[in-house]
Amino acid sequence: MKVLVTGGAGYIGSHVVRQLGEAGHDIVVYDNLSTGHPWAVTYGELVQADLADTDALDAVFEKGRFEAVLHFAANIVVPESVENPLKYYSNNTRNTLNLLGAIQKHKVPYLVFSSTAAVYGMPENTMITEETPLMPINPYGASKMMSERMIQDLAFATDLNYTILRYFNVAGADLESRIGQATPEATHLIKVACECVQGVRAGMKVFGTDYDTRDGTCIRDYIHVDDLAKAHVMALDHMKAGGGSNIFNCGYGRGFTVKEVIDVVKAESGKDFPVEEVARRAGDPDALVAMNDKIKSVLGWKPDHDDLSVIVKSALNWEAVWQKKQKES
Ligand code: UFG
Repeated sequence: MKVLVTGGAGYIGSHVVRQLGEAGHDIVVYDNLSTGHPWAVTYGELVQADLADTDALDAVFEKGRFEAVLHFAANIVVPESVENPLKYYSNNTRNTLNLLGAIQKHKVPYLVFSSTAAVYGMPENTMITEETPLMPINPYGASKMMSERMIQDLAFATDLNYTILRYFNVAGADLESRIGQATPEATHLIKVACECVQGVRAGMKVFGTDYDTRDGTCIRDYIHVDDLAKAHVMALDHMKAGGGSNIFNCGYGRGFTVKEVIDVVKAESGKDFPVEEVARRAGDPDALVAMNDKIKSVLGWKPDHDDLSVIVKSALNWEAVWQKKQKES
């Protein structure tokens, strides 16, 4: 298929582009390179442009005649969204509106949208299904919830088919370390811990030890980025085969605490680093764990890397490559 990938130079987008390229799709990446990198685009053509630029967007759609769009471009840092909410409503929600305008105008039939477990907020039952009510507790989750709603309304009114993928905590990197998370000033737990191992940071903080969990730190469902990428390729195939629109959770259905994750990073790397326990960070729910029965039964998706050690090892290997790459440039 001829596909447009927004945010395809970023962390998750670049892993999906790799798999789409390997599956033979014809790819155009649309990315403003605010956090992405040209070297991360390993297949297709890269257009450097912003989704706020509706003229540039229209020109790319006019030329491309896409059959599908995969929409990754977004800001994703929960605490930043609490401090600067309008950045999130503008770059996530409004830019999704711009993209949907182009999708409607150019009659693109298929859309895969990167959504997030943050749309669920702080659910009473921490085993989350796709039917769990959406009650985001931070602007990031709200910005994605609004985008989901716009997509559903447009699909109702037109021939658009969508797959909304609600990601849990994405981590790890390509097992051959060709690409990985290279976001400047990353805040994600496994990335931060890997930077400590590499000596980029002197130590790290655990945000909150008084949560209602087995060791007092937050529980998250960590999913390897290549398992998540696979879900996107399968979602496209499913829609193309007439499977219609769907919403799926993407996670493994089990969670680890912050302390457990840090322990695995230390064990896998053989390195110790200082860890300070501090107060809670704004916007963090106690526990988020995916029920993934739906994606397994409807798409036939099954994980290849459901092992925290594998996830951490791939993140550690990539971090070493990435630090070397930066020193050389
Ligand atoms: N954490 C620390 N120290 C750090 C970094 C993180 O203690 O240096 C803790 C956080 O407080 C949280 C947990 O580790 O309890 C995970 O935090 P991340 O920042 O890695 O990820 P989030 O859970 O905040 O958010 C991520 C994605 C969202 C997605 C969410 C879904 O960024 O897009 O997972 O679970 F919505």
